[in-house]
Amino acid sequence: MAMSDDEGDCSAEGCHASLLDFENVHDAAEDCSSCHESSGKAHPENPGKEFSLTTAMPLLCFDCHDQSEQITNRTHGPANESTPCLSCHNPHASDFSALLKQDEADLCFHCHNTEIDFEKRIIPEIASRVLESEFVHSPVEDGCGDCHKSHSPENALLEGTFPASNYGENSTESYGLCFDCHDDANIFSEKESDTAFRVDGENLHFVHVAQDKSRSCINCHNVHGADFEHLVAGSVYFGKWNMPLGFQDNDRERSCLTGCHELKTYNGE
Ligand code: HEC
Ligand code: HEC
Ligand code: HEC
Ligand code: HEC
Ligand code: HEC
Ligand code: HEC
Ligand code: HEC
Repeated sequence: MAMSDDEGDCSAEGCHASLLDFENVHDAAEDCSSCHESSGKAHPENPGKEFSLTTAMPLLCFDCHDQSEQITNRTHGPANESTPCLSCHNPHASDFSALLKQDEADLCFHCHNTEIDFEKRIIPEIASRVLESEFVHSPVEDGCGDCHKSHSPENALLEGTFPASNYGENSTESYGLCFDCHDDANIFSEKESDTAFRVDGENLHFVHVAQDKSRSCINCHNVHGADFEHLVAGSVYFGKWNMPLGFQDNDRERSCLTGCHELKTYNGE
């Protein structure tokens, strides 16, 4: 554990023991010298000046980790910052999985508690959708990991396929993430389905999704948490436009009055 034999034990009681006093310790952390080197100044007399990192961040991490796995073509905002890894990971030890600085959902909410104006679109605020919506998508109650992997190269850091915009392709594969858990027949079967999104026998999921211009689930559902039952959204984003769906639930007759079409009603039968 010593920086070098004559410098003593860095993580001894009274020194830096508290750095490693967490449930999960980074496999690399025992050997301080793999990341820190003495700058020749007397220690501990010149706090902050005695050590420098052996390699600048984030290259330091890639001494041992595969850069192509952590930084992908879909690199998440914070991974591009000057201290990219440390906004989410603790380099020494942590009480959370993957050396995260906080529980995963809390970590995400730390930044996603506000809208982010990003390129041509708005990334909506997620924290209050999850914490305050009346209807929360049940996998979200266990955190974000069922659908997102922070280092995923896929659209929206997802673990499975899902369209990158409001429109997808007319295939079940295009919505693979959802069909890991849901029955694709409710969407893609014109006749053999028991979806309640129907009118007089016509499957309205099929009408909207199983078309050349396939309207993605997010045109009607909010996949994190929503204002209406069945995760039906109050409003949905088209780029920077937050479009109201005008959904009305009058028990037997439910209707939508959106920017897409005039008032339309369905009866679930
Ligand atoms: C895997 C690389 C790595 C290893 C191994 C490592 N550190 Fe660090 N350490 C860092 C990084 C990165 C920082 C943050 C530097 C910065 O913010 O500029 C840091 C910061 C520190 C700091 C500053 C205070 C703080 O809490 O951030 C201390 C003290 C420290 N390390 C001591 C140690 C000791 C003692 C060991 C061995 C038990 C050790 N480190 C092992 C990477 C490492
Ligand atoms: C000296 C080699 C070395 C360096 C430098 C290093 N790591 Fe690691 N790290 C390891 C080893 C070994 C493991 C355990 C095996 C594995 O998961 O790859 C590990 C595991 C991890 C894990 C997974 C922990 C878990 O419990 O799942 C994370 C996250 C991580 N490192 C982040 C970082 C970050 C961030 C940096 C840069 C500050 C860094 N590492 C620098 C060697 C290193
Ligand atoms: C330090 C702040 C920060 C943290 C922590 C953070 N994010 Fe982000 N996130 C951003 C920013 C900024 C953007 C927009 C810029 C970008 O994508 O490069 C973003 C974008 C995203 C996107 C859209 C990416 C895309 O390509 O469409 C997703 C999905 C996302 N974050 C999920 C998460 C998840 C899940 C977590 C928790 C593991 C998380 N974020 C933690 C700041 C953060
Ligand atoms: C926005 C938060 C965030 C940032 C920034 C971030 N990570 Fe991660 N990282 C995570 C999360 C969350 C996990 C846990 C598993 C997952 O979601 O993929 C993880 C997992 C890991 C792992 C474990 C192995 C794996 O791939 O699952 C390593 C190693 C790692 N990260 C290294 C890094 C390095 C190196 C950087 C900087 C280039 C970095 N991370 C930046 C959130 C982040
Ligand atoms: C059931 C799967 C699922 C879970 C669980 C989930 N998400 Fe998502 N998330 C998605 C899908 C699908 C998208 C892309 C469609 C969209 O933008 O709504 C997405 C997009 C996002 C975006 C980017 C929004 C945008 O418009 O670009 C952020 C940020 C985000 N999720 C954060 C989180 C956080 C934080 C958690 C955990 C609290 C979480 N998600 C849990 C499925 C999920
Ligand atoms: C044009 C709007 C629209 C689109 C697009 C849409 N849905 Fe729906 N969906 C609804 C409505 C409205 C309901 C509620 C039906 C009711 O009143 O019970 C619903 C209900 C559901 C249900 C509950 C079971 C059922 O079928 O009644 C699931 C699961 C579901 N949708 C999944 C999806 C998935 C997955 C996608 C994308 C592949 C999708 N939806 C696309 C409007 C839509
Ligand atoms: C990890 C599994 C999982 C994934 C992935 C998943 N869901 Fe769900 N979803 C569930 C569970 C569990 C429920 C609650 C039980 C139910 O109603 O089916 C649910 C409920 C729903 C509901 C409300 C159903 C109702 O009858 O009220 C909709 C709508 C929905 N999901 C849409 C989606 C969409 C769209 C996707 C893809 C972006 C998706 N889900 C991905 C597990 C998942």
